[in-house]
Amino acid sequence: MSIRVIAIDGPAASGKSSTAALVARRLEWAHLDSGALYRAITLAALDNLGETGKGKRETWSAQQIVALAEDLPVRLVFVDDVFRPEVAGVDVAQAIRSERVTQRVSEIAAIPEVRHWVNVQQREAVQGHGRGVVVDGRDIGTVVFPDAPLKVFLTASPEERARRRLAERGRGGGSGGSGGGGANDAPELRREAEVLAARDRADSTRAVAPLKAAADAVVLDTTRLSLEQQVQAVVALARERLPG
Ligand code: DC
Repeated sequence: MSIRVIAIDGPAASGKSSTAALVARRLEWAHLDSGALYRAITLAALDNLGETGKGKRETWSAQQIVALAEDLPVRLVFVDDVFRPEVAGVDVAQAIRSERVTQRVSEIAAIPEVRHWVNVQQREAVQGHGRGVVVDGRDIGTVVFPDAPLKVFLTASPEERARRRLAERGRGGGSGGSGGGGANDAPELRREAEVLAARDRADSTRAVAPLKAAADAVVLDTTRLSLEQQVQAVVALARERLPG
């Protein structure tokens, strides 16, 4: 029997995690946000390996980071159908969303040893889970679970993704496929689109497991879809491909 994984990949702010969480709830599956693990490791490194002042960046070796993740430990804990990130026994679901983590996470995620460590955690989490798991990230369908029976690659225009990101932060504007409108001021929207584009560039051009759609992924452009519409589309595909 094939593994019961739905892989949802795509660029930053394409709605992967919100979609994956809602799809998992409707199917009564678990949800695993792989980005949360990369963020938790980044947070652990910032807090434990030293952070220098303005403009300067401490560089950490791959061995240092992986040893730290093992020792603290950084791990995923299964609570209420969700794999939640913990560092040294503390729930870091909120702390990993901070700007200081977001700024460094692409760099940490580009380290092959870190990716290997994260992939092992993900495979163990899925293996130890009886029902299915909806996993979202950048390389789930291409590298982590290449045998997943359903792979979805979510895209959306950079402007729409920037609008969603600002809306998430409570800056108004339309989210969920407004495809236009919204109250964000244009310079702020442009800045956010540039930040997202830079992260996409970093994630798509790295040597190891770059962000790209698997050859057998269903590509879903969500620019003009609401969250509910994109969830319904993925649930319909899941029912078709993974009956029972
Ligand atoms: O989805 P997110 O923004 O929380 O992801 C944080 C970072 O982690 C993102 O810049 C890319 C990286 N990431 C990755 O390289 N591979 C994954 N499977 C998930 C996330």
